Amino acid sequence: MPATRLDTARIRAAPRMIDSVFLDSPLYRCEALEAVLGCALSIKLETANPVRSFKGRGTELVAGLLAESGPRAAVCASAGNLGQALAWSGRGRGLDVTVVASRFAPAAKLDRIRALDARLELVDGDFDMARERAAAIARHDGIRLVEDSLHIETCEGAATIGLELVDSATPFDTVLIALGGGALATGVGHMLKTFAPGVEVICVQPSGAPAMTRSWHRRRVVTTEATDTIADGVAGRRPIPEVLDDLLLVADDAVLVEEASIIAGMRMLLDHAGLVVEPSAALGIAALLEDRARFADRHVVTIVCGGNVDMDAYHRWIGAAPGHRGARSRGRALIPRARQRTSRRRGMTLQRMDHVGIVVDDLDAAVAFFTELGMEPGGRMPVQGQWVDRVVGLDGVEVEIEMMRTPDGHGALELTKFHAPDLISGAPDDAPPNTLGLRRVMFAVDDIRDTVDRLRAHGGELIGEIDRFEDLFLLCYLRGPAGVIVALAEQLR
Ligand SMILES: Cc1ncc(COP(=O)(O)O)c(C=O)c1O
Repeated sequence: MPATRLDTARIRAAPRMIDSVFLDSPLYRCEALEAVLGCALSIKLETANPVRSFKGRGTELVAGLLAESGPRAAVCASAGNLGQALAWSGRGRGLDVTVVASRFAPAAKLDRIRALDARLELVDGDFDMARERAAAIARHDGIRLVEDSLHIETCEGAATIGLELVDSATPFDTVLIALGGGALATGVGHMLKTFAPGVEVICVQPSGAPAMTRSWHRRRVVTTEATDTIADGVAGRRPIPEVLDDLLLVADDAVLVEEASIIAGMRMLLDHAGLVVEPSAALGIAALLEDRARFADRHVVTIVCGGNVDMDAYHRWIGAAPGHRGARSRGRALIPRARQRTSRRRGMTLQRMDHVGIVVDDLDAAVAFFTELGMEPGGRMPVQGQWVDRVVGLDGVEVEIEMMRTPDGHGALELTKFHAPDLISGAPDDAPPNTLGLRRVMFAVDDIRDTVDRLRAHGGELIGEIDRFEDLFLLCYLRGPAGVIVALAEQLR
């Protein structure tokens, strides 16, 4: 048994203090996702409860103890889910709950905290600034400070998920756990290492919020100056030393994943499991996407740990991700091969015309123009990353895109505003991809390399390279007749 701060007997007794609505959450094989991820996969679903996250397990213990013996008032800092859960647990026990959160936390989380009768104080900073403010309120008002991951009840509450996993009849090899402050990972990890030490415990964090993962690898607390991720639930900068010590005892690995993988994971959970999840809950799927070979022969459990997400942002992310089939999504036209009619001509398969991209100077004005014309905007989306640079053949690309569709969904324009590199005006025949008014037409094809070879014979020249976006697409830009850029996309599955 690992010598963490957690107590196995207390964890075994904990379910008696936790409202049953949070307990015995579904654990099931998700065959549809298995088919696309290439490994055996079970989902432990922690979103089907009144606060739509696992945090209720811990706050039930916290609030239960406070109601029995402690002060009647408590304050916590929260990225949103702990606050909502403490508000829920406190309300049922007549406790006075104050939550301190970032002004930039998802409105869906902040609204629910207010709706559950908690006092909500917002700080003009991130989660770690909210932590400082909550501590100051506790000192000043003499009320109980509930510190997520430090207070043992938050970890032991989460550990009841581990209890359910080890008590289940499902045999599994690996558990992927979203890592923020560490309550979830230390809790679940403690139970697994105690009762199923052969099961691999892997923590997953976004590359944009890597503090705890870096700390785990260096075996000492490493802080970061800032975070940059859509996974707001796990975006901490200052790991708690006691939690790191526990994590070092129970985790086998800690990995970082890219934002694009998190979005792809959210989309897959929607498409193949029918689950609307917040970004933190897609970290496990993101890890699978980024290292398929590692998990290919494993039975993996991923804990789907939260579903509190602003729907506007959700639609923007999901809609902008390639491969989605939603009515207004950017990638709508990049639909699976099986659903497409193909037309063959001299051996080359052209599936359909996807969209036309236009580089614009004033994105708002361009969107307004095409909206006026009757097209429907699909949502704004920033795009950058090394894969973009490689595909378009430019360095340091930072663009904002808006996909406009005709109401019937068949025609689409992608309006692109380059923030970097600078816009280039005037269009010579070899105009680079950041040229104002550029004509670029994208086609979905069956075999990108074969297509490039064939088009070369007609003067087509690759502008950048053929490169891979995730495991989803091969992409390239090709110079076509009269300088038009012909972009090609081959869907990989
Ligand atoms: C949805 C979700 N996933 C993961 C986490 C990370 O959990 P922990 O902070 O216990 O590591 C949180 C934290 O609030 C969360 O809300």
